[in-house]
Amino acid sequence: MTSAASEVFAPAKINLTLHVTGRRADGYHLLDSLVMFADVGDRVTVARADHMSLTVTGPMAAGVPTDARNLCWRAAEAFGQPVAITLDKHLPAAAGIGGGSSDAAAVLRAMEQLFGRPFGGDPLSLGADVPVCMVAHAARMQSIGEIVTPLDLPPLRAVLVNPRVEVATPAVFKALARRDNAPMMPLPDSRQADAVFGWLADQRNDLQPPAEGLCPEISQVLGALSSLDGVRLARMSGSGATCFALFDSDTPTEAMARDLQAAFPQWWVAATILT
Ligand code: C5P
Repeated sequence: MTSAASEVFAPAKINLTLHVTGRRADGYHLLDSLVMFADVGDRVTVARADHMSLTVTGPMAAGVPTDARNLCWRAAEAFGQPVAITLDKHLPAAAGIGGGSSDAAAVLRAMEQLFGRPFGGDPLSLGADVPVCMVAHAARMQSIGEIVTPLDLPPLRAVLVNPRVEVATPAVFKALARRDNAPMMPLPDSRQADAVFGWLADQRNDLQPPAEGLCPEISQVLGALSSLDGVRLARMSGSGATCFALFDSDTPTEAMARDLQAAFPQWWVAATILT
């Protein structure tokens, strides 16, 4: 018996590093990025239907398109079956945490379950972050996003903050001062959290300086995260504006996130574990 509906979690994608190492003739940038996934995210349900539909619910539903402008819709079209999609939206949009890409990947994975066959198309055609979001687990992402190598990393405790200012990814790439930066250094032999923190401190997000130039709120968020007790690293994810702070596993990040949310009610704040 085949099921009538399939539900898949679409986690927030966090770029712990993001090195821009070149630019192709078509304008796309060559990247070298370490990506992990949070336990906060959206939820996608797909059901067999006679025609395509998309319903968006949840705290971040406002302003999310419910037609072919939404990557979920385009993912289902690429899969080649009409489905009724429900997207329960918890992640802020245009936030550097792959919301749209993670939703599209979740639609593809849900449709693979529902129809009992793999997606035959190219996830990259939906967006540079969709291939890594299909893996939804710690990975290195290279080239323009299509080379994804899963990595064995310890779970990392984190606080995520978005100042609720949308950042346009193309504008951030355009504002880059250099496009020929060094790739990531080799990963440490030890995958203990301490070794990973030490290595991360020597890596970068090359999109952070241009994003801070376009969106000063990012600097404010990084300042607030950097002043939290026990912070091991504070950095921006993707093209922003969401930033993360990493902590040792015994740090009371839930309480810290509650305090931060109380101090900055307009911000989106989440305590999470990255895997
Ligand atoms: O692929 P995606 O739709 O996520 O990319 C959004 C924009 O980010 C692209 O239109 C491009 O301007 C920029 N980008 C890039 N190089 C990449 C990925 C994205 O220049 N590897």
